[in-house]
Amino acid sequence: MLAKYNAKIAGTGMYVPDKILNNFDLEKIVETSDEWIRTRTGMIERRVASTEQASSDLAYEASLNALKSAHLRAKDIDLIIVGTISPDHPFPSTACVLQHKLGVKHIPAFDVSAGCPGWIFASSIAKQFIENGTYNNILVVGVEILTKITNYSDRNTCVLFGDGSGAAVFSRTESTDIALIIDSEIAADGSYGDILIQKAGGSRNPATEETVRENLHTVYMEGNKIFKLAVRSMYHACDIVLKRNHLDVKSIDWLITHQANMRIIEALGRKMKIDKKKVIVNIEKYGNTSSATIPMALDESIKSGKIRSGDIVLMASFGAGLTSGSLLVRI
Ligand code: ACO
Repeated sequence: MLAKYNAKIAGTGMYVPDKILNNFDLEKIVETSDEWIRTRTGMIERRVASTEQASSDLAYEASLNALKSAHLRAKDIDLIIVGTISPDHPFPSTACVLQHKLGVKHIPAFDVSAGCPGWIFASSIAKQFIENGTYNNILVVGVEILTKITNYSDRNTCVLFGDGSGAAVFSRTESTDIALIIDSEIAADGSYGDILIQKAGGSRNPATEETVRENLHTVYMEGNKIFKLAVRSMYHACDIVLKRNHLDVKSIDWLITHQANMRIIEALGRKMKIDKKKVIVNIEKYGNTSSATIPMALDESIKSGKIRSGDIVLMASFGAGLTSGSLLVRI
């Protein structure tokens, strides 16, 4: 498709709940150790939402921060897209709840269910709506409250997940802008659907006393299988956008991958042969927040001055589906 306009990231924001759950807290819940979690995952602590907080509450705070950094008001937004696997409700969408919280009406809002790359998928949609001239400013949010769908008797999964939200405003670029959404790539392979799944709560296995008793409403994951697919699928997603734009890895200033496991991040970095100093990591503070990991890391790195205007940032994620995707931008 020939783009009529270009898109850019005009502002970013994030929000995490105050409560911290660290590895030592987890030692009191399941048979694990700080040492195992740190060396096998790179995680030290993660945030936990309060019982009153739902995903839209976290998304709302992150959105306000993103709007502020884009110097826009909620009424300037034409579309809201939320990537999440832990929505407030199966329906209505968290994006609609967020629209109401932001006090705006008459703009479309919808969720994208694409596992951990939900924010990447949502960004890819936003990019196209701006490029074809349909919308000027789109709020793209990644949000999760995974701790409410985590089985705290399963040490294989419960040490991994945390809560948080990241948001970005995608806007039409002006001719003077250096910032640009360069490209994106999204993919899915449904044949791996059963290795990372919330088994109950949908039409396949509606909620019953039994599904609750058997913890089927929590994350089921075959970690080892995911691990190998993660590196392969993110490498592929990165390779495609680099090749399509005639860039080699040396042209990338920063790589932000899904923060699922430090060893996955390192393995991808090695496979890509990218300088370690260019790989952004915040897994030690927040654990795996699924579709929020990338926009949170992006916001933190921009706000701390690490990522600067003109830097080329490659982002890549993978997750339940199995899905994968990448987003290449100049900030
Ligand atoms: N504490 C102590 N021991 C543990 C723990 C724990 N928390 N969890 C597992 N173990 C044990 C296992 O029981 C096993 O013991 P055994 O050898 O006696 O059977 C041993 O550690 C090794 O288990 P593995 O599963 O082989 O450990 P691995 O090194 O693969 O690490 C992990 C497990 C962290 C889950 C890893 O496989 C992983 O990160 N996989 C990818 C997960 C992922 O990326 N998910 C992303 C999508 S999910 C999402 O984003 C929503």
